[in-house]
Amino acid sequence: MIKKSRRTVSQGKPVKSSQVEMTELVLPNDTNQLGNLLGGKLMHWMDIAAAIAAQRHSNRICVTASVDQLSFHQPIKLGEVVILRASVNRAFGTSMEIGVRVQTENQLTGATKTANTAYLTFVAIDKQGRPTRVPPVIPETGEERRWFEEALKRRERRLILRTKKVK
Ligand SMILES: CC(C)(COP(=O)(O)OP(=O)(O)OC[C@H]1O[C@@H](n2cnc3c(N)ncnc32)[C@H](O)[C@@H]1OP(=O)(O)O)[C@@H](O)C(=O)NCCC(=O)NCCS
Repeated sequence: MIKKSRRTVSQGKPVKSSQVEMTELVLPNDTNQLGNLLGGKLMHWMDIAAAIAAQRHSNRICVTASVDQLSFHQPIKLGEVVILRASVNRAFGTSMEIGVRVQTENQLTGATKTANTAYLTFVAIDKQGRPTRVPPVIPETGEERRWFEEALKRRERRLILRTKKVK
């Protein structure tokens, strides 16, 4: 009989094991009166893509703890395709930073544009609803190592902000 493998949290997982690609079509119900994608709708898609990446990495239910500052640089128009790519940049104790990169595609011209990037922090939760430890991330490429290093600096800023708000 083959024994089931039991992964311990000390074993790391590569970034590619949490990668998510989600593709959406901007429909009339997703837009405002100007035919632009609603910011809240985009945030919803980003949250879902990030949650799937966090859960792929941790194999746990994960909740959104925070979203770093999010800016909308240019409108995304009705009929455009939105491609969201998410992966875990770095895992800490029970929390993970997820990077979500948003690209738009005009299907009539084939042109693609980067719309924005956001960083979300998710916390893995156990069956009792308590934060639970997650495996470390193993960055493999130059870009993943950069995301990994920068994630630590962003976490330090986030924790300072959190302490200030709790006071
Ligand atoms: C996120 C949550 C689980 C954290 O619980 P908590 O009791 O504050 O737990 P802790 O203080 O032990 O922190 C747990 C981890 O979350 C991180 N964390 C907590 N708040 C954070 C924040 N605002 N930003 C970034 N990380 C945060 C901590 O740094 C810690 O990470 P680490 O283990 O990697 O060091 C809890 O606040 C919660 O359930 N929030 C609601 C989540 C939710 O419903 N999300 C949907 C929003 S609509």
